[in-house]
Amino acid sequence: MRIGIIGAGRMGQALTGLFVEAGHDVVLANSRGPQSLAALTTQFGEHASAADVPGAVKGSDLVILATPWGRTAEAVSAVEDWSGVVVVDTTNNRSKPGPDGLIDIGDRISSEVVAEFMPGARLVKAFNTTPIPFLVKGLGAAAGEDNAVYMAGDDSDAKALVGALIASVGGEAVDTGDLHTGGWLQGMSGPLAGTLEMLTPTDARNRLAKALELVR
Ligand SMILES: NC(=O)c1ccc[n+]([C@@H]2O[C@H](COP(=O)([O-])OP(=O)(O)OC[C@H]3O[C@@H](n4cnc5c(N)ncnc54)[C@H](OP(=O)(O)O)[C@@H]3O)[C@@H](O)[C@H]2O)c1
Repeated sequence: MRIGIIGAGRMGQALTGLFVEAGHDVVLANSRGPQSLAALTTQFGEHASAADVPGAVKGSDLVILATPWGRTAEAVSAVEDWSGVVVVDTTNNRSKPGPDGLIDIGDRISSEVVAEFMPGARLVKAFNTTPIPFLVKGLGAAAGEDNAVYMAGDDSDAKALVGALIASVGGEAVDTGDLHTGGWLQGMSGPLAGTLEMLTPTDARNRLAKALELVR
């Protein structure tokens, strides 16, 4: 796949490493322009390159959104038309780890807020529930049984594509439902957020089943 990644910080780089290792082509974008990413993309090898935000989106099979919550609207506004683009939303409404970092969005579901920034995009929320070091350790060449990655979304074809991407890096996608319900379960105030370990798909599904009892 050709994967555009908006945000070349901790999450963007962690996923770039996994995707490049799996043979995907990655186009990274940040706020400072492709020239600022030259040294970084060189480190990742020939399957990584840099572009501006529209350039990372255009021609990509899917786009990863890995920007800080407070800068996401501005980042995605660089693209005029998001219609039909499959977007993996890794963002969380927090400014830093820990309870102090939570950014209040009232009763709203974070991915529904993000979806409003990019009308027409086929949003899938994934990779957001586990801190990056655990994610990196659990996926990739060293992936073992603790390889579950939660995802939520309204578009089944988009989820199938994201599921294939997750499988390509040694993971197994566990579908938490639509963007509203699954997005809440996976969101900062939901019961699946902040899992400080990778889970087996069976454990992840059991945790999901218990979590779903809260919304019934
Ligand atoms: N850290 C974790 O363990 C973890 C786990 C799950 C989910 N997440 C979520 O992942 C997201 C990214 O977190 P992070 O830790 O990777 O953040 P980070 O290290 O601060 O990196 C943020 C990246 O976003 C880019 N960016 C900011 N504004 C932009 C704009 N207008 N256009 C294009 N790019 C822009 C930055 O580029 P510049 O440097 O050029 O400004 C930078 O490359 C957050 O929403 C976070 O909640 C993080």
